[in-house]
Amino acid sequence: MPTRPIMTDLYAVFGNPIAHSKSPRIHAEFARQTGQDMDYQARLAPLDDFAGALAAFRSEGGRGANVTVPFKEQAFALADRLSDRARLAGAVNTLAFAPDGVFGDNTDGAGLARDLTANLGLDLAGARILLMGAGGAARGVVQPLLDLKPARLVIANRTAEKAAELAGRFSPANAELVGGGYGDLTGSFDLVVNATAASLAGDLPPLPDGVFAPGALAYDMMYGRDTPFLIFARERGARPADGLGMLVEQAAEAFYLWRGVRPHTRPVMDLLRGA
Ligand code: ATR
Repeated sequence: MPTRPIMTDLYAVFGNPIAHSKSPRIHAEFARQTGQDMDYQARLAPLDDFAGALAAFRSEGGRGANVTVPFKEQAFALADRLSDRARLAGAVNTLAFAPDGVFGDNTDGAGLARDLTANLGLDLAGARILLMGAGGAARGVVQPLLDLKPARLVIANRTAEKAAELAGRFSPANAELVGGGYGDLTGSFDLVVNATAASLAGDLPPLPDGVFAPGALAYDMMYGRDTPFLIFARERGARPADGLGMLVEQAAEAFYLWRGVRPHTRPVMDLLRGA
């Protein structure tokens, strides 16, 4: 007996580790809400054979996949066609399988932008934004943040040269964009986004005391725990936000790419927060 109806469309998220991924729950909720007949699984890919795991999934009839740590750069490399935003990010988190090949997209930046604007109510036109980090997570959100028309976007990183190099890849028309080290930071910011891996290790990059402007929002891409960054921000009067909204919004953007239907994200965020 098949374990799922024959016509159900199959999707999966690939990562290593993957057991604690919330994506299957999010997509199951989206599918239920929109009446889409699909099955979305979590798949552990071997560290040394992501391509093999993906090929096996395609031969099972997989229609598309999400890709998470540490395979986003490999997914970028193996896609036959890329969206502009995936090309700019240098990483792919969403794959769609078509008869003529694999399409790679990156919905992380759009997910962050939507969480900031639609869910958290920010209007970032003319704002001062600080982006912490210059790895894959930071790189994927630079252009989506610039698209929100800030006056100033500063990228700060422990390795200052990486931040300068990242800033140098973009040429915004109406925003000041600079990259450097934490020691170079001057002025205060309306939005500070933590895209470093520091929270994972319980660390906090060395932010100056006056980094938050009055009414600033502190956004940590990590979710599910109160990070040193969010504690630091709250102590200085900033409004803290974790990355759960970004997670749900990037999933909604992937769901839209695959199914052509936009799910409601708020009830899914409430569900995941146990509201
Ligand atoms: P990801 O794809 O999640 O961005 P990454 O490419 O390994 O992962 O990048 C990790 C980012 O977190 C980098 O910006 C890194 O700074 P360096 O470029 O100097 O390594 C930053 N990072 C990691 N641990 C950190 C810490 N304890 N303090 C400050 N920054 C940290």
